[in-house]
Amino acid sequence: MAVITFANTKGGAGKTTAALLLVTELLHRKYRVCVIDADPQRWFSRWYEGASLLPNFTIETYVSTSTIHKIIHERRSQWDFVIVDLPGIQSPLLASAVGLSDHVLVPIQGSSMDAQGGAQVLDMLRYLDRKAGICIPHSVVLSRVNPMITTRSMQAVKRLLTQQEIHVLDTPIAERAAFREMFDLSRPLRRLDDLPGRNVQKAVTNASDYADDVLALVAPGLASKSGPLSNRTYTPIETAA
Ligand SMILES: Nc1ncnc2c1ncn2[C@@H]1O[C@H](COP(=O)(O)OP(=O)(O)O)[C@@H](O)[C@H]1O
Ligand SMILES: [Mg+2]
Repeated sequence: MAVITFANTKGGAGKTTAALLLVTELLHRKYRVCVIDADPQRWFSRWYEGASLLPNFTIETYVSTSTIHKIIHERRSQWDFVIVDLPGIQSPLLASAVGLSDHVLVPIQGSSMDAQGGAQVLDMLRYLDRKAGICIPHSVVLSRVNPMITTRSMQAVKRLLTQQEIHVLDTPIAERAAFREMFDLSRPLRRLDDLPGRNVQKAVTNASDYADDVLALVAPGLASKSGPLSNRTYTPIETAA
């Protein structure tokens, strides 16, 4: 149904974390999800290899510029959501993936405006729109935001992006130990609660609100509903390119 790409040409911006949180929330809501791990470092795939088998989920790894087009096209007709996790470098895969996406999410750390990697992606999207007439919906997701501070600086970043007519998701992703532990322990966020002494409720609420925001953008009408997609009617989203 929908292809969502996570892009920021800088490593450490929180792409894979944001992608994994969205994926596990979509799976929790009984959607069928295919991940395309386009990062040669394979962080998402490594998480998956350590996690116990997840139903309604598949992952494609080792994609290249010559295969990504075909893979995305095939998978989008077979899965409810195709999530593309890009590497944190300037890669030819960026243009290919972005051009095939229904929505591009650009994680930018809420605390810093030296978000070069995010700006490169946003510039490219603006260029495609203005020069080539290819308009790919996109949003910034503020990532790794300190949950203790309802930051003035974060609000300033948000205002600055909004002034530039860049859409920012309402829900920022907080900096939380649980989001790191998902990778360390190769578990979905909601399964961390099984561990003794853990209370990941705040992290789960954050992830759920963020997934609601994404669904409201990418599949409006589905966001507030529950149950498998196959029971619902929806308007397919056309690829922008
Ligand atoms: N919201 C967060 N809370 C805590 N740790 C985070 C968060 N986002 C990212 N990290 C940590 O920062 C590092 C880089 O994040 P990652 O998602 O892999 O970034 P990218 O994919 O953009 O390179 C990882 O160790 C990850 O666990
Ligand atoms: Mg990554």
